[in-house]
Amino acid sequence: MNILFMGPPGAGKGTQAERIVDEFQVPHISTGDAFRAAMRQGTPMGVEAKKYVDQGLLVPDEITNGIVKERLEQSDCDKGFLLDGFPRTIAQAEALDGMLAEMGKRIDHVIDLKVDRDLLLGRLTGRRICKSCGATYHVLFNPPKVENVCDKCSGELYQRSDDSEEKVGTRLDEYTTKTAPLLEYYGKKELVREVDGQQDIDQVTSDISSLLRGQA
Ligand code: AP5
Ligand code: ZN
Repeated sequence: MNILFMGPPGAGKGTQAERIVDEFQVPHISTGDAFRAAMRQGTPMGVEAKKYVDQGLLVPDEITNGIVKERLEQSDCDKGFLLDGFPRTIAQAEALDGMLAEMGKRIDHVIDLKVDRDLLLGRLTGRRICKSCGATYHVLFNPPKVENVCDKCSGELYQRSDDSEEKVGTRLDEYTTKTAPLLEYYGKKELVREVDGQQDIDQVTSDISSLLRGQA
């Protein structure tokens, strides 16, 4: 099954992706995670991406499309994949259509996580991430059992550089102007299924899972 997660920054894409890939046993492809890993390693692509990510701006399409194409060509994607945070512009969606057509594949489901803009700021500024395994927490809504320590691997938690109030504002504006129009793009293909992302985390997972299993 080839799944695409859409929704504004903080909608819960990463949180839900961790759970859905466990259930459906497909690889999780997150362009945001790929950029952050390259930034940590200091690769040439990471150095370039950092200029945009740290400002809350989208990384240019040429860089982003290349990463996704390389990843989709790996053999573990033959059983399906979950794309999280890509595509984010109409040009990326068109590039993705081209890549998939070449591989004889297509998107089966677009899950759109709906959350009101005024809730997103609190979600993002309270987010903490495990340095070792990348698991996502929230200081209020999904706290680890021990403060600043990952439940899964005992790794230390950190705050993303683009989760400050100022950067979140820029990211939400980028979403509204460049990414939200994709809902119409995929809407025309009749692929979009909306999920209420304001429910508790388990309920959101259960709704997504039912949709993907064709039970909703
Ligand atoms: P990326 O990493 O993709 O970030 P994003 O889209 O801004 O999304 P987030 O990771 O911030 O949010 P999320 O929806 O995953 O929410 P989460 O589950 O963590 O991109 C980062 C940057 O990389 C971009 O700004 C850009 O520069 C670059 N980039 C990436 N892809 C690109 C592309 N395709 N093109 C160009 N540039 C690109 O949840 C948020 C918080 O809320 C967590 O603390 C969580 O615990 C909590 N939470 C989640 N669900 C719930 C719930 N139901 N109730 C209460 N709390 C909840
Ligand atoms: Zn961890």
